[in-house]
Amino acid sequence: MSFYSKTLEASYAKQIDRELRASHAGETGAVWIYRGAIFAEFILSFFNIMRSTGATKVFIQEHLKTEKQHLNLFETEMPLFRGSFILPLWVAAGFITGFVPRLLGKNWFFYTIYSVEKFVDTHYEKQCSKLVMQPNPPSNVINRFKRCQMDEQHHRDEAQSQIATKVTLPMKLWGRLVRVGSSAAVTIAKII
Ligand SMILES: [Fe+2]
Ligand SMILES: [Fe+2]
Repeated sequence: MSFYSKTLEASYAKQIDRELRASHAGETGAVWIYRGAIFAEFILSFFNIMRSTGATKVFIQEHLKTEKQHLNLFETEMPLFRGSFILPLWVAAGFITGFVPRLLGKNWFFYTIYSVEKFVDTHYEKQCSKLVMQPNPPSNVINRFKRCQMDEQHHRDEAQSQIATKVTLPMKLWGRLVRVGSSAAVTIAKII
């Protein structure tokens, strides 16, 4: 093998490592979004100001279950990769992203999930199109990314269908902040 093909191969391996690290950080954050939402529900119920949350509870529990499966898939079925050094930061960011909107109300929460999942769907799409360009596309990684992506699309549509009010300007600004923040998180997680 020539020096150049060895260098190329190493750079492809690095690319896979970066993509796995970024998505693992994202799935970690996703699990904590729902844990944040559960904690917000606990606080709301404590002060007795929670209104008809049966469906929201089921939504949160079911999404949490799927996000845990995604995280498990990264940790047990994917090729070995270096995890992000700043995972606690992604945990905290996820928690806040679930906790704050859920405190503000169901519509804020569903709109937040819609915004996050919209970003995640696009991100998985970009990752898969990048990885298929490699001379030996890592089908084990791509297929699993696609499996997660299908769930995220379902989460996005489900969240959107639950938004019961007009999306207000503050909600739109928050949604934008969430998407910009997610994009920045991906860039950072790829590096550290
Ligand atoms: Fe996920
Ligand atoms: Fe999801």
